[in-house]
Amino acid sequence: LVLEASNNGHRPFKMEGNEELHIKRSDFPDGFLFGAATSSYQVEGAYLEDGKSLSNWDAFCHSVGCGENGDVADDHYHLFLEDIDMMHSLGIKAYRFSISWARILPRGKSGEVNTAGITFYNEIIDNLILKGIEPFVTMHHFDFPQELEVKYGSWLNPEMQEEFVVFTESCYKYFGDRVKYWITINEPNLFTKEAYESGVFPPARCSEPFGNCLTGNSDVEPLIVMHNMLLANGKATKLYHDSYQPKHGGSIGIVVSCLMYEPLTNTDLDRKAAERAFAFDIGWVLDPLIYGDYPEEMHKYLGSRLPSFSLEEKNLLKNSIDFIGINHYSTLYAKDCINSSCSSIGARAIQGFVDITEERDGVLIGERTGLEELFVVPRGMEEIVNHIKIRYNNKPMFITENGYSSPDVYEERVDKILNDVKRIEFHSKYLAFLAKSLRNGADVRGYFVWSLMDGYEWLQGYDVRFGLYYVDRETLIRSPKLSAKWYKEFLMNKSDLI
Ligand code: NOJ
Repeated sequence: LVLEASNNGHRPFKMEGNEELHIKRSDFPDGFLFGAATSSYQVEGAYLEDGKSLSNWDAFCHSVGCGENGDVADDHYHLFLEDIDMMHSLGIKAYRFSISWARILPRGKSGEVNTAGITFYNEIIDNLILKGIEPFVTMHHFDFPQELEVKYGSWLNPEMQEEFVVFTESCYKYFGDRVKYWITINEPNLFTKEAYESGVFPPARCSEPFGNCLTGNSDVEPLIVMHNMLLANGKATKLYHDSYQPKHGGSIGIVVSCLMYEPLTNTDLDRKAAERAFAFDIGWVLDPLIYGDYPEEMHKYLGSRLPSFSLEEKNLLKNSIDFIGINHYSTLYAKDCINSSCSSIGARAIQGFVDITEERDGVLIGERTGLEELFVVPRGMEEIVNHIKIRYNNKPMFITENGYSSPDVYEERVDKILNDVKRIEFHSKYLAFLAKSLRNGADVRGYFVWSLMDGYEWLQGYDVRFGLYYVDRETLIRSPKLSAKWYKEFLMNKSDLI
């Protein structure tokens, strides 16, 4: 069964008068890498096969119940060769995926390396390279061995730093001869908030007065978790730079969840609020890794609650990454909560006293998507890239994720899912704004569609679909959506598409 997206002989993506939809491959430099992304828990399945141990997500979904879970996911573990053929036919030049820590070091640093896990990722990497596809490897994409949660309380404990370094060393050692792009951690800012603030990700600890808490605690926890992740990052990148980069070349960076914040009103107060929102979210991760310390605004409003770095640690972190990975989906408004009253969560110090909202005068900032907090705001791509370019001296950047899920999450008609004109519009427009930022000098070197195929979406299961390929939940057969065809033609620089 291969389902074909039908366009009834027309080009359904023809949208007249919408200039930015005419984006072309040739609007980007030749060496610019175009790819697609996934992550281990979201696509691999085989959750207990070949020596893998339970991950924090396996344990969480099996105990509290996530509704659906990643036990089988897209069964990429068994179907990866087919998936690599699919990538090849799509014409992408890079594939971003993550290595499941629980497959490589199922018991953490005190246990053995699992050779079956090494074989699995070796095969992926070798086959990608055979097809001319550059592997972009993330080492921590939300999942890690549950044993580390049980043993230490994972990222709340500084011990986790050394655990992470040992895991990354196995990755460099076994795969570093062929992997030239490493990503230490995916979205530590979003992870920290979801896992320790709103408590919706494992280990479901809350520092909010509401939420899905298994345990309640204090609002310094998110700050401690980030602190440990940053130090782990510093140590893991130092190890790479000292011992592996000299042998193999290659580069290493981090991926940040990068929402764009626009001031709700054109006032100084809201403009400052938007800056604070940036500082407490993106700056929280990147300032330490580039300048060696947390943003000034965080020091000012958090005082002694903000953990501090020793001089030695500051030097370790400063300029420790080779590139910045930007996951950009949406833009939201920021409203001041220092001088104006706010009732929401934003009024708390650890959020920088900013209220984040999607509405201005009753009008939504952009069209809704399948995720409540994400809206379609293409201009945000140019704005966020410019912001990061300016704040971090035009450090090399990659758009490591950008993608669309339809608000019709309960759509069951496959023909409708396959005819994803909205996704094509989304990518064309976001790419057009990205091209603009490149023309203005931003050093962006690649772009990854999230996602290659529909997979497990953390809290929403399989109804929220980001893929260029549809995955039938019964048969697991992959079928190209119209957007896959569009991406393929875009990559061939066919300019008559839209
Ligand atoms: C970012 C995360 O890295 C990815 O795992 C997730 O599926 C997408 N956002 C969409 O929510």
